[in-house]
Amino acid sequence: MTASIPIGIDFWESQKRNVESPIIWDELQLSNPHVGIAGTTGAGKTFWIKRFIAAMPDDVEVDIFDIHGDIDVPGAREVLFSESTRYGFNLLSLNPDPHYGGVRRAVSDMLHALGKTSSSSMKLGDQQAGVLRHLLTDTYALRGIFANSPATWARNEITEAEAKAYADNRDWASLRQAYPHLSDVVALAKRKLKALWLGVDDSSATGKAAMSAFDECSRAMWSLNQARKRMAKMRAEDGDLAALEKRLEAGKEKAIAAFSAYVTQIETGREFDDVTKYQSKDTLTSVITRLENLMDKGIFNPNPPPFGDAMIRRYNLKPVSHSTDELRMFVNFRLSAIVREMKERGESRRIRRMVVLDECKNYLDEDPQAPINVIATEMRKFGLMIVQAGQSPAHWSQDFIKSAGTLMLLNLATVDWDPAIRKLKIEQNDLRFLRPQQTGAVRMLEKNRVPAFRRVQFQ
Ligand SMILES: Nc1ncnc2c1ncn2[C@@H]1O[C@H](COP(=O)(O)OP(=O)(O)OP(=O)(O)O)[C@@H](O)[C@H]1O
Ligand SMILES: [Mg+2]
Repeated sequence: MTASIPIGIDFWESQKRNVESPIIWDELQLSNPHVGIAGTTGAGKTFWIKRFIAAMPDDVEVDIFDIHGDIDVPGAREVLFSESTRYGFNLLSLNPDPHYGGVRRAVSDMLHALGKTSSSSMKLGDQQAGVLRHLLTDTYALRGIFANSPATWARNEITEAEAKAYADNRDWASLRQAYPHLSDVVALAKRKLKALWLGVDDSSATGKAAMSAFDECSRAMWSLNQARKRMAKMRAEDGDLAALEKRLEAGKEKAIAAFSAYVTQIETGREFDDVTKYQSKDTLTSVITRLENLMDKGIFNPNPPPFGDAMIRRYNLKPVSHSTDELRMFVNFRLSAIVREMKERGESRRIRRMVVLDECKNYLDEDPQAPINVIATEMRKFGLMIVQAGQSPAHWSQDFIKSAGTLMLLNLATVDWDPAIRKLKIEQNDLRFLRPQQTGAVRMLEKNRVPAFRRVQFQ
C-alpha cells in the first residue's frame, strides 16, 4: 500500500481540454514525499494536514507536533505536555547505537540546540558552551558512561520519581544502570562551583575530604550561631545559662576542628585540571543558571509520554507553546531522535513515518545540519516524510524549498506575495487566483515533469 491523494482539478488543463483534469498526489510519482503548506489563517492548512495523515496506509507512523491543540486525527493518541503533566524527554538519554549514537553526539546536540535559542537567559557563549561540554561529559562518566566506549552507552531510562527513590535508598547500583538527568548535571556543577571557591580538587580523595570537612565546618558554624541566638534570648529572659554556655563552647571547638581539618586537607592548591576545565566561578554560575532555567521548563522532565504503541502520536504542546525557545529545543531534540531511529531502521522505498509541523515559523533554521533540513534533504531514502505548514513561504528554509516534493500555496496575505514571488518563482497572477478553502497553487517534483506551480480548484 502506498499513499495517493486527490488534490483537486488542474485549472488550466481543464480549461484547455474542456474536461476535468485531476491533480493527484502520488507517493510513487514524487521525487520525495515532503510537503510544504502555506496559507493565511483559515485558508485550510490544518484541513490539508489531516487529509495527508488520513491518506497514509495503516503501517505509517505519524508524529504530530500540535501547538494549537487542534489537529485532532481519528486513531491518534494524544499526550498533553504541561507543567502539571510533567511529561518530557530526558536530554541526557543516549542512542546506544555504536554508529549513530553515543556521548559526543548527545553532547553536541544539546550544545547546538542551546546555541540556537534566541532568549538571553538560555543562550550559551563560547566559554559557557565549553564548560557545559565538560559538565555533561563528567556527568556521564560518573555513571560509568564514556564517549570512547560504546559498550557503556546502553542504560535504563528512569523517571524523576524512580531516581529519587534510588537515591533515598542509597541504591547506587541501580542508579548507575540508568541515564543521568539534567538535575544530576546541576548537582555536579554546584559541587564544582564549591570546589572552585574552596580551591580544592573535588575529584581527588584529599579534595573530597577537604570539601566534607568544609561542609562539616559550615554545619558547626550554623549550630553555633543558633546557640548564640538562643543565648541572647535567654539572657533577656534571665534564664539558666550554664547548660547553653557549655553547648556553645562545644560547638565552637567543633567548628574550629572542622575548619583546621579543611585547611590541612588542602594541599593541591591550584594545579588541578578543573581550573582550566571549569573556567571561572562566574562562567560556572551562569551555566548553572541556564541549566536551572531549562529544568524549570517541564518538557525536559525525564517522564516519558505515555504514547504506548500508538501509530499516530499527537504531542499537544499548547500549554508550553508560549515559550518559543523551549518549543524549538523540544522539537529539535525529537526530530534528531527520529532521524537517528529511521537511519537505524535502514532504507525504505516507501513512506514509513511522517512528521507534522504546524506553524513551522517556530522551527525555521537555515543551518543545513539542523534536523528539520536534514529530513528534507536526506531522509527520503529512509522512508521519513515531513509536512511543514505555516502562514508564509518565508517560514520555509531554502533547503526545504529546494527539496520539498510538494509545495502547496493556499490563500496568502498580500505582504507575503513578494517573498513568495522571490523565493518560489511563482507569478503574481497565480497568487491573485488563490481563495481560502477553494483554490491553491501546487508545485510537485515528479518524475518526467517540469516543476512549476499549477492552479488547483479544490473539490
Ligand atoms: N479544501 C477545503 N474544503 C473544505 N473545507 C475546507 C477546505 N480547507 C479548509 N476547509 C475548512 O475551513 C476551515 C478553516 O481551515 P483550517 O482550520 O484548516 O485553516 P488553517 O489554515 O489551519 O487556519 P489557522 O492558521 O487558523 O490554523 C475549517 O473548518 C476547514 O474544515
Ligand atoms: Mg491550523
